[in-house]
Amino acid sequence: MAAYREFKEVSPNASAGAKTMNWLENRFPTAFDAYKVHMSEYYAPKNFNFWYIFGSLALLVLVIQIVTGIFLVMHYKPDAAKAFESVEYIMRDVPWGWLIRYMHSTGASAFFVVVYLHMFRGLLYGSYRKPRELVWIFGCAIFLALMAEAFMGYLLPWGQMSYWGAQVIVNLFSAIPFIGPDLALLIRGDYVVGDATLNRFFSFHVIAVPLVLLGLVVAHLLALHDVGSNNPDGIEIKGPGKAVDDKGHPLDGIPFHPYYTVHDIFGVCVFLFIFSAIVFFAPEFGGYFLEYNNFIPADPLKTPAHIAPVWYFTPFYSMLRAITSEMMYALIACVVLGAGFGVLKARLPGIMKGIVVVAAVVAIALMLAIDAKFWGVVVMGGAVVILFFLPWLDHSPARSIRYRPDWHKWMYAVFVINFVILAYLGVQPPSPIGERVSQVGTLFYFGFFLLMPWWSQLGTPKPVPERVTFAAH
Ligand code: HEM
Repeated sequence: MAAYREFKEVSPNASAGAKTMNWLENRFPTAFDAYKVHMSEYYAPKNFNFWYIFGSLALLVLVIQIVTGIFLVMHYKPDAAKAFESVEYIMRDVPWGWLIRYMHSTGASAFFVVVYLHMFRGLLYGSYRKPRELVWIFGCAIFLALMAEAFMGYLLPWGQMSYWGAQVIVNLFSAIPFIGPDLALLIRGDYVVGDATLNRFFSFHVIAVPLVLLGLVVAHLLALHDVGSNNPDGIEIKGPGKAVDDKGHPLDGIPFHPYYTVHDIFGVCVFLFIFSAIVFFAPEFGGYFLEYNNFIPADPLKTPAHIAPVWYFTPFYSMLRAITSEMMYALIACVVLGAGFGVLKARLPGIMKGIVVVAAVVAIALMLAIDAKFWGVVVMGGAVVILFFLPWLDHSPARSIRYRPDWHKWMYAVFVINFVILAYLGVQPPSPIGERVSQVGTLFYFGFFLLMPWWSQLGTPKPVPERVTFAAH
């Protein structure tokens, strides 16, 4: 039971506003405490830079998606015979329907732009490292939920790309040995993508996944506020031995409200400026945000010549396509090299070395026995799952990129370029050269993470200062 709290008194001469607040605070103190803990007395490092606005922007886009989604559901019909025309009806006949729909479709892409930048900030400043591992893990779970949300949402307009994109992706599940075909059937609710699929995707898209997303976002923020924010220097501002003022507040921190609320409002204005420009002038964004084929109603009898997912999935889609039977030999070579390294170089006890050898033999046998299509699915899923392990892969003595050896910056630059190339290749029709490049790109992507325990320790880090660096502006 909550402890008894004394009612706070307010002077009889106080303003009506102060009296109302006092009345509310005495009846709902938890809300006032939460405001203090998370806003007015949450001390955040004073050296945040522009990379730190993407968290708030992600929150803003989440709200935009929920609000526009609520209005879309008022007119949308989750029925294979009516879905496409109900979207056309929203676009043409519902007052302001076109705006709501374009805000929602542009919001989906904006969400991924903002979240990719937000994740990259974490990578740059080592924000996933102790004690923020859980903040990162909740973030990765959010990313997974977001991908599921976007994938299921894309089926709803029931255009050619909605239909065939879902067909291709759901069919991938059937490549899983033993359970695959039944699993694909369970997801579709039918032998082909159809009305049953549309109904379940609708249900998940409008209620199940958004609830999970909201819960994860709350957990993400509560975990962050428990351990405190990182910053571009990667230096802790709170804790034993840290400089504090006479009230015990960190000298390198400033209250989130009003300092960062103002900072974030500025970011929100810039974001809304760009967002509105796209919504009003280029909502299809050259076919990247809304694919041209999706303006044609779904036709189960006519497969489009080229099926590609929306841009935010394409790096992962490229990795899926990169796994051909030929590529399996390269992957087997990687397993042999990895196991050889484990046995010959790593300081492992004898029993562990035995386990490594047995595991490698089993893995190679499975890789030879099961179709490459299945391993493509494993690689595509693995590309996301590996992110969860980042806190334990990075062994660099310096947390932030600022104090790491300069060549680490090049590593991150090549990582980004590689990711963009993979994304580009994923929208292109398959070609021999594209396939080769995406294979090299896939190896680099996994090499970046799997070899991180080794390369992140190389080189001499720069001296890390005691206090954060900050120049008033
Ligand atoms: C709906 C999606 C998300 C929302 C609304 C969200 C929200 C936020 C907010 C408001 C912050 C504090 C402000 C800031 O540091 O930018 C934050 C911090 C953080 N987020 Fe997210 N986030 C989302 C997704 C993710 C994802 C996908 C990841 C990583 C996989 C992630 C990792 C982090 C980390 C590591 C921090 C701490 C950063 C630091 O202290 O330097 N977030 N998030």
